[in-house]
Amino acid sequence: MALLETTRVRKWFGDTHAVDDVDFVVNQGELLGLIGSNGAGKTTLVNLISGLLRPDAGRIVFDGADVTRQSVHERIREGIARSFQLVNLFDQMTVQDNVALTIFAREGKTRRMTALAERDRAVLDEAGEVLQRFGLESKARMLAGGLAQGERKLLDVAVAYALRPKLLFLDEPTSGVSTREKAPIMDIVTSIVRTGGITAVVIEHDMDVVFTYSDRIVAMHEGTILADGTPEEIRRNERVTTTLIGTTEAG
Ligand SMILES: Nc1ncnc2c1ncn2[C@@H]1O[C@H](COP(=O)(O)OP(=O)(O)O)[C@@H](O)[C@H]1O
Ligand SMILES: [Mg+2]
Repeated sequence: MALLETTRVRKWFGDTHAVDDVDFVVNQGELLGLIGSNGAGKTTLVNLISGLLRPDAGRIVFDGADVTRQSVHERIREGIARSFQLVNLFDQMTVQDNVALTIFAREGKTRRMTALAERDRAVLDEAGEVLQRFGLESKARMLAGGLAQGERKLLDVAVAYALRPKLLFLDEPTSGVSTREKAPIMDIVTSIVRTGGITAVVIEHDMDVVFTYSDRIVAMHEGTILADGTPEEIRRNERVTTTLIGTTEAG
């Protein structure tokens, strides 16, 4: 079943057809790998779906509702969340408070409104559960700025997860981390999809990661969808191997 469906969605920047009438489908419960060389249009497509950008044309339907004209906040409330290619954390706050703040924001509360210790307790308990799920519970009281790169990426995903989305976009969750740190990050992403009721779209440059973890892969090139299939189908797809894989592995 389609959780998300774009119909001929378009975003041009001057002469650059960043996203050119794209029909993109995400099915309920899958972990979808979105690949394509630099400039293919991946981030722009995600920005259109999450509401950071308005499309020039086309339609975006999420969970049965047309969200094309909704704001970022309305879409978060509907259940669309994302993490960023460059992590988006409050470095001067603790790991725990980064997650707690997201939970407060999700609930539409401010700290002042929730001065009641009991309410704070519920938020901190939930933050603790999220950190445990992400293997960060021992770092709860550290400043986010003091985390190692792999842990920062994990916390960034944890913060997006704390919004309790139905659909989670992860823009390069393993970029800039060592090969050794990639598997733990992707194992947790897989676990929140398999047992956390989340559907995930992962933009990823590391082809080993994409082929290992994706249920399905969509390959973009110059603003259009070049191929769509299982990892096996994409691996064998000649258009993908010639246009894409040679170039992404280099950069
Ligand atoms: N805000 C913008 N203004 C102008 N051009 C942009 C903007 N954002 C993206 N582009 C261009 O659109 C194309 C697609 O970019 P992007 O979606 O970031 O690709 P990817 O994420 O696949 O690397 C690129 O040519 C990029 O330079
Ligand atoms: Mg990008």
